[in-house]
Amino acid sequence: MRIYKFDEIDSTNKFLREKEDVIEGDLAIAKVQTLGRGRRGNKWVSTEGAALFSFVLKHDIEIPEEEYMKLSILIGYSLLYSLKKIENLDYKFKWTNDLYLDEKKISGILVEKIRDNYIIGIGLNINNLNLEEAKSIAISLREKTGKTYDLEKVIATVVEDFYNNFQEFKKGKWKEILEKINKVNYLYGKRINIVTFDKEESGIAGDILEDGMLEVFIGDEIKKYNIGSIHISKK
Ligand code: BTN
Repeated sequence: MRIYKFDEIDSTNKFLREKEDVIEGDLAIAKVQTLGRGRRGNKWVSTEGAALFSFVLKHDIEIPEEEYMKLSILIGYSLLYSLKKIENLDYKFKWTNDLYLDEKKISGILVEKIRDNYIIGIGLNINNLNLEEAKSIAISLREKTGKTYDLEKVIATVVEDFYNNFQEFKKGKWKEILEKINKVNYLYGKRINIVTFDKEESGIAGDILEDGMLEVFIGDEIKKYNIGSIHISKK
């Protein structure tokens, strides 16, 4: 395991993606990112004080393609429990891998597959103060508690917990993990819009299912969805 620290870089995910000789556990940390990447090609913009980091998981782990979602969910779950150790607050897990606190986003995760590696990128709002225009949708731990935290310790906890949880996952503990995740399922009972390539539907979200898909009640039908675009309807 090697640690690469940057005061400023375009993106920690991009750094590890482009590095040819990465090994499991390689970790890249940045104070500032100039081109932070989010999911679905979105930008990830964050003010200084956030924990911004990416690390490498080798891909020799027998996760079949269709179970890829489980890995994504596992990362979110693991991060939620790391955060709980730091401050025991009422975090929610938003399928497939965002974390929410007080109805606002506290963390985003981007998993990218490259060659035989997964690059796991995490943006975690810890000591940063969100810009005025982001305050209604994003929250940091400091904004919630008024305290500041040792970012390197936070990152070390998150990474270590992930590898431990991943061992449990490999030992076949997925069902137990999923049960815990469903207790903190942010979308449960919420009206959501599902946008697929040819249509948009609206329904009430249910549980996260054993295969990692989300159950949605649409009229009197029960459907299930994989990653796709899910939007929460305004109340
Ligand atoms: C999302 O919510 O869309 C995912 C955001 C992931 C952001 C993190 S910050 C560290 C790492 N480097 C990046 O460029 N992106 C991830």
